[in-house]
Amino acid sequence: MTNPRNILISGASGLVGQPLCAALEARGHKVRTLSRSDHGDYQWDVGKGELDPKVMDGVDVVIHLAGETVAQRWSEEAKARILNSRVDSAKLLVDAIMRQSKRPAYISASGISYYGVDSAVPVDESTDSGQGFLAGVTREWEGAAQPLVAAGVRVAYMRTGIVLSKQGGALAKMLTPFKLGLGGRIGSGEQKMSWISLPDLVNAYVFAAENDSVCGPINAVAPQPVTNRVFTKTLGIVIGRPTLFPMPKAVIKTLFGEMGEETVLSDLGVLPLRLTEHGFEWKFPKLDQALRETIYQDN
Ligand SMILES: NC(=O)c1ccc[n+]([C@@H]2O[C@H](COP(=O)([O-])OP(=O)(O)OC[C@H]3O[C@@H](n4cnc5c(N)ncnc54)[C@H](OP(=O)(O)O)[C@@H]3O)[C@@H](O)[C@H]2O)c1
Repeated sequence: MTNPRNILISGASGLVGQPLCAALEARGHKVRTLSRSDHGDYQWDVGKGELDPKVMDGVDVVIHLAGETVAQRWSEEAKARILNSRVDSAKLLVDAIMRQSKRPAYISASGISYYGVDSAVPVDESTDSGQGFLAGVTREWEGAAQPLVAAGVRVAYMRTGIVLSKQGGALAKMLTPFKLGLGGRIGSGEQKMSWISLPDLVNAYVFAAENDSVCGPINAVAPQPVTNRVFTKTLGIVIGRPTLFPMPKAVIKTLFGEMGEETVLSDLGVLPLRLTEHGFEWKFPKLDQALRETIYQDN
């Protein structure tokens, strides 16, 4: 157990933020939340560049989760919101950290989409960034912390894969058709999916918050990416339903447009090299365990 830390979390009301706050508090840390609404302990208005000036007082670690949801049709306006809500908010936090005499560490959410939409070979943290809108967003989002890196502040980017949850994200959307026996692989099913259970993602953030040696890009994924075909078959077994109805790629493109191409259809086998090197232990390293935990436990 490390010393209790004062931890500021933006976007704490979201899918990751809620269980993360609970996990940090359970380990004795003091959490303060930053929100657009009164529900947070502190408020900000990213569009207006406004941040409560007291927000950093005594803070040891900042965790930046806030960002407009990616799971929507990507109109030009939506793309601007997805980008600006992450990059402008990161700049506000980074400026505030730079003004502190004792600067807190900065841990930012990021995504495996940093690596693009597909890769023929396994991807680790040394792999270059790839093509696509989300790859550009993650480069700018991470890049906003450059002043901190240059000043020698500890900075970590949690390049997160597909988070398994009943509450939101890809699995939540898949569960209803799969439970009705209408599920199946997408396209050829050969595209790789790099996933992580929500409890393991939360633990990875806690690990990063508590360990001063954790810095730079961190792939927040389980150790074994699987093909969409294996994911589909495993989900079918876990819920006891057949998975006989493949979804053609063209249907995904029609339903979700560019968003579908860069998320549902992406093909990235991402390896968590840095977490492994740091000795991080996954509670749910195997997909069937992770799906059982996600679907049948209260989380
Ligand atoms: N979940 C995943 O599968 C996944 C995968 C890869 C990366 N990530 C990244 O990890 C972070 C956390 O994910 P999550 O699933 O917890 O996200 P989430 O449930 O969508 O929550 C994000 C939080 O950000 C704030 N927010 C939303 N729109 C905003 C806007 N336009 N401007 C400023 N703040 C806004 C909200 O907090 P307030 O209402 O309190 O302000 C919201 O609760 C996100 O940045 C996400 O991109 C998630």
